Amino acid sequence: MNLFINGSNREKNCYTILKDIKKKNDELISLSNKNIKYCLGCNSCIKKLDNFCILDDFMSQNIYQKIIASDKIIIASPIYMSSITGLLKNVIDRFYPLYNHNNFNNKNVYLILSGQGTYEDNEEEINDIIKYFSGISEWMDFKFTFLDYFCSGNPKDDNNIKKFDINYDDKINKIKNILN
Ligand SMILES: Cc1cc2nc3c(=O)[nH]c(=O)nc-3n(C[C@H](O)[C@H](O)[C@H](O)COP(=O)(O)O)c2cc1C
Repeated sequence: MNLFINGSNREKNCYTILKDIKKKNDELISLSNKNIKYCLGCNSCIKKLDNFCILDDFMSQNIYQKIIASDKIIIASPIYMSSITGLLKNVIDRFYPLYNHNNFNNKNVYLILSGQGTYEDNEEEINDIIKYFSGISEWMDFKFTFLDYFCSGNPKDDNNIKKFDINYDDKINKIKNILN
């Protein structure tokens, strides 16, 4: 099973991309509208708690087990203020127990980004985000691959990824091949 994580605060562009890539038996989780608390910084997880984290929320009840059970983890995030969403950053902070249990153990983690600007507009931001993921992949022990960037156009003009990214279908097929 592969796990698809929609890091957006809504189910629109990133959700559409992930839905178009995923296979029937893959799991797709949207982080929006879930009970996901912030890391307390308490370091309890360093003691390798059975339930990973002292916080009792959607991370402890669902996401930790799903990550462990998945072969590949495919994350999509909109660019928000030149970075990933706060929602996704919070979930990545909450990966700390998985690191403390050595649960990534060379797993494959993939990233897809979407923003209203063109790739060229966002090249610096995209490279900064890739650098962030590459950095944490080294010490958390996962293999990181950046898959692609999708342009969703100006929100005033409907902000529809399938309409604005003229290479949409080609990119989806390319990603499906990589994940196969
Ligand atoms: C708060 C906020 C900040 C954003 N910041 C950027 C940005 O810095 N650069 C950009 O290209 N798009 C930015 N966008 C646009 C979104 O990244 C873009 O519409 C994306 O396709 C939305 O994906 P979603 O439909 O999955 O949420 C921003 C949107 C919001 C709501």
